[in-house]
Amino acid sequence: MLIHSALIALGATLAAAVQPLEVRNNHFVNPKTGNRFQIVGVAYQPGGAAGYNPELKRDPLSDKDICLRDAALLQVMGVNAIRVYNLNPDLNHDECASIFNAAGMYMLLDVNSPLVGESLNSWEVWTSYYASYLNRTFAVVEAFKNYPNTLAFFSGNEVIDKLESAAAVPRYVRAVTRDLKEYIKKHSDRPIPVGYSAADVREILWDSYNYFTCQIEGEEDNMSQGDLFALNSYSWCGESSFKEASYDDLVEGFKNSPVPIFFSEFGCNTPSPRPFTEIGTIYGPQMTDAFSGGIVYEYTQEPNNYGLVNMTDDGPATLMKDFYTLTDQYKKLDFSKIQDTKVAANNNKAAVCSPKLITTKGFDSNFTLPVLPPGAQKIIDNGVSPKPSGKLVEIKDWKVKYTVHNADGSVLQNLAVKPLADDATNAPGSNSASLTAGAGTSSSSGSSTDTADSAAASESKENAAAVPRSAAAVLGAMAAFAVFAGFAI
Ligand SMILES: *[C@@H]1O[C@H](CO)[C@@H](O)[C@H](O)[C@H]1NC(C)=O
Ligand SMILES: *[C@@H]1O[C@H](CO)[C@@H](O)[C@H](O)[C@H]1NC(C)=O
Ligand SMILES: *[C@@H]1O[C@H](CO)[C@@H](O)[C@H](O)[C@H]1NC(C)=O
Ligand SMILES: *[C@@H]1O[C@H](CO)[C@@H](O)[C@H](O)[C@H]1NC(C)=O
Repeated sequence: MLIHSALIALGATLAAAVQPLEVRNNHFVNPKTGNRFQIVGVAYQPGGAAGYNPELKRDPLSDKDICLRDAALLQVMGVNAIRVYNLNPDLNHDECASIFNAAGMYMLLDVNSPLVGESLNSWEVWTSYYASYLNRTFAVVEAFKNYPNTLAFFSGNEVIDKLESAAAVPRYVRAVTRDLKEYIKKHSDRPIPVGYSAADVREILWDSYNYFTCQIEGEEDNMSQGDLFALNSYSWCGESSFKEASYDDLVEGFKNSPVPIFFSEFGCNTPSPRPFTEIGTIYGPQMTDAFSGGIVYEYTQEPNNYGLVNMTDDGPATLMKDFYTLTDQYKKLDFSKIQDTKVAANNNKAAVCSPKLITTKGFDSNFTLPVLPPGAQKIIDNGVSPKPSGKLVEIKDWKVKYTVHNADGSVLQNLAVKPLADDATNAPGSNSASLTAGAGTSSSSGSSTDTADSAAASESKENAAAVPRSAAAVLGAMAAFAVFAGFAI
């Protein structure tokens, strides 16, 4: 308390903060250290679609107690980022953003929602591109641009899901990307990357990638070029391999990308429970040059059965088998190696946009983008009005108020978010909790409780590097993958 008052007296900021990241070529980079950043993320949408309800005035980042519970659990897992799909820009997100920031986690945010007027539609896209729609996307930017842990905005998610929707949608998604980048350039203190989250439907993947990452000749500052390209990929199922999951094709196709590439969703759930054997590969030497990590789908158990945590309603939660397995897989990684490498001086060139880049008949090859709809230029010039605005706030109590059960029914004791040091990002070992050993998979290496000894490390500035792990486990796993006969999907 005294120390805290002293800090206030010195004019120190309320909360330690993660370092806002930048895009340099095909990497996310911490500009302070020059190190590249790999996304170790989880999709976060408690309540599923119902978790976003404009009428009930709630979205996934609007309830402090829920965010505390989930940030603590995600911290225990070792993740450093969340993806949130459906946000209401008019709610106050200060407490949740501050909690995830202090927990060392970045936020990747979709500016759209499934509601009419809040996203482009795939079938008559031109009917959904109008000023109040754009205003909504800009409002999300306004609401989140001031948080240091806002890592990126998705301008669209799987709007192109099959070839039929690829005829006209791409130019609209590219136009929305342009509009968001214009808005950010005018109204944000720092550049925040904007890009598209694509369906990993191989028939349209490469054309999507080319369409969104090429540069239109003569376009000022390449405003419509995506700053990143992400894909929702479910090709690794069960005990698969680099080849069998056709990750090799992905690496081959993306290795010269001019912008960061990552999985905006992954985690095939057939079979279930999941072994998450792809973790060692995604963060291993075959992938990390081309990929900047990925986001596991998804935190909460919903009817589609991808959950790590089961909660019937807001409140008590129960960890599921996948939670332990994924936690164990992350623990096998050498985080210091993954996160603390200098960026290779690479200078991948973007292709110049041209119909020749598009290889599939029926996929949009017209790069004459739709002009701004009536009224939109005024919003870009003057800003959204009234303007939502976010800021970090002080969190006084980090203790989780809801009960969280292990899979075996026991209660996790003393669950709390551990605020990390300034500039630290979360990594396995930063937060220990009484995960019940034995609830995990038989393949898990050691008891999950062995993180206890590194709890103190969270106070250290070197936190992200505090849990060096042998690369042997990863290499061993790689060798095992090699015995599977590979076939591309
Ligand atoms: C723009 O967004 C703000 C913030 O959500 C909202 O209050 C305002 O009504 C919107 N304006 C238009 C024209 O849609
Ligand atoms: C924009 O794209 C052109 C190629 O079309 C490239 O030469 C130029 O450097 C790019 N400018 C920026 C600001 O990225
Ligand atoms: C989640 O919890 C509810 C209520 O406790 C239970 O009925 C349901 O079976 C659980 N789901 C799973 C997948 O464990
Ligand atoms: C591309 O789209 C623009 C605007 O809709 C249109 O004027 C132009 O004719 C199209 N070009 C081709 C080759 O279809």
